[in-house]
Amino acid sequence: MILGIVLLVLLFTPLSTPLSAHLHTSLHTSLRTSLRTLLHTTFDTLIRTNATTTSVLPLLSKTLRSNPSIFQSNTDRKYFADNLITASNLRIRYSHHLGLTLPPDSDSESALILNLHLNDELNEEMKISLSLNPSLKDLSNYYSFPISIIKILHKIYPQHEELKAILETTNSPGPISIRLNDPTYIPPSYTSKIADKVYVLPPSLRSQIMKNTDYISGRFEVQDVHSSKVLEYVQGNKILDLCAGRGGKTLGIACTLNNNTIDCYDIDKDRLKGLSSRISKISQYIKSEVNVLSEVTDNDYDCVLVDGPCSSSGVWRRWPNARWEFNVSKLPELEQNLTDILVEGMSRVKKGGRIVYCTCSLFKEENEDVVRNIDWKDWSKVNERRFPLNDEGDGFYVYVAKKIK
Ligand SMILES: *[C@@H]1O[C@H](CO)[C@@H](O)[C@H](O)[C@H]1NC(C)=O
Ligand SMILES: *[C@@H]1O[C@H](CO)[C@@H](O)[C@H](O)[C@H]1NC(C)=O
Ligand SMILES: *[C@@H]1O[C@H](CO)[C@@H](O)[C@H](O)[C@H]1NC(C)=O
Ligand SMILES: *[C@@H]1O[C@H](CO)[C@@H](O)[C@H](O)[C@H]1NC(C)=O
Repeated sequence: MILGIVLLVLLFTPLSTPLSAHLHTSLHTSLRTSLRTLLHTTFDTLIRTNATTTSVLPLLSKTLRSNPSIFQSNTDRKYFADNLITASNLRIRYSHHLGLTLPPDSDSESALILNLHLNDELNEEMKISLSLNPSLKDLSNYYSFPISIIKILHKIYPQHEELKAILETTNSPGPISIRLNDPTYIPPSYTSKIADKVYVLPPSLRSQIMKNTDYISGRFEVQDVHSSKVLEYVQGNKILDLCAGRGGKTLGIACTLNNNTIDCYDIDKDRLKGLSSRISKISQYIKSEVNVLSEVTDNDYDCVLVDGPCSSSGVWRRWPNARWEFNVSKLPELEQNLTDILVEGMSRVKKGGRIVYCTCSLFKEENEDVVRNIDWKDWSKVNERRFPLNDEGDGFYVYVAKKIK
């Protein structure tokens, strides 16, 4: 109890330690007691329910929606959201620093963790051990990832510098890219062109672009640049998108390729639900025929795209809760499922046609290992590529093969 009071006093005491530049701006313009209290309460809920069951994002949007009067500006909202997400991402780091085990079992411990984050305090010892010869446990503590995930990533990135870069990138917000549906559209001046019909903007302008009326009317989509590049492998007159999901990739293909037929299917009918209306919304920019299938019957496709349902580890920076929710023991089952879907996709390709297998995962188990499970004797490899998770785009894997017999 007394400790709790001491900590609350601590929490509302003006900050004396140096802040990161970003935090400094936010605090300077918008630090108000009420906002900070709300952040504390929300973070406490989050951390004490382990967040394997409670997701950061639903909690965040609920808090934002139910406290409209506290947020006097977008800066307030952004301050709140950024800090909640970052502190949540880094909870292992701060707990380790304090010698706590997760989850902290009192308000005061959660308050301390949050306070460390708001003060941008770091254990110098931790930084030093990291710069010498860090163990996987050091990396887990510093970058705040479950050790089980660090071990899997270490197999892919055996060099520590490479692994550290991946972990650092996953802890930072990613760039936002847009892909034009309407090729005549001139995007806002705060975007810059990085590929044909693809433009990038800073993460801080995300909400601005989402409110853009041209986005709402479908003249462009928000789509990662590496995802757009994967689509370049999809070609042919008759195309099947076997795991179409919400249709992001399908729509990209439909606005790019002329005079094609694109069939979309997904085993998860809920995910497909909105696709027909998304297609009609942008029909004026679509240059091919797009069908939403309830069942796949043909096996004479020129190209089958298998965008496999995976851990999504290549896009985890956009999904702050994912590292806490992902269970690495599920990887063998995911690998088996992905292999089955790829085999199904391959059986739908006609002779001379191609299969394009891709995931937004970094894990070998969902990429190279799936491809190694397949008997490719009637196929010839066209390409295999990893698009790295970096400052430009998200992590993707793609494997392309042509059916020769
Ligand atoms: C959170 O996880 C810990 C151990 O991982 C467990 O002991 C505790 O019961 C969990 N708490 C809740 C609220 O689920
Ligand atoms: C459109 O596709 C059909 C069927 O594949 C083909 O016969 C026709 O020549 C194509 N037209 C153009 C303009 O490419
Ligand atoms: C992770 O998955 C394995 C295998 O499916 C299961 O036995 C285990 O209980 C899961 N762990 C958690 C924390 O959900
Ligand atoms: C694998 O596929 C089965 C059948 O569709 C599904 O029930 C299961 O949840 C999948 N497993 C994983 C880990 O996604």
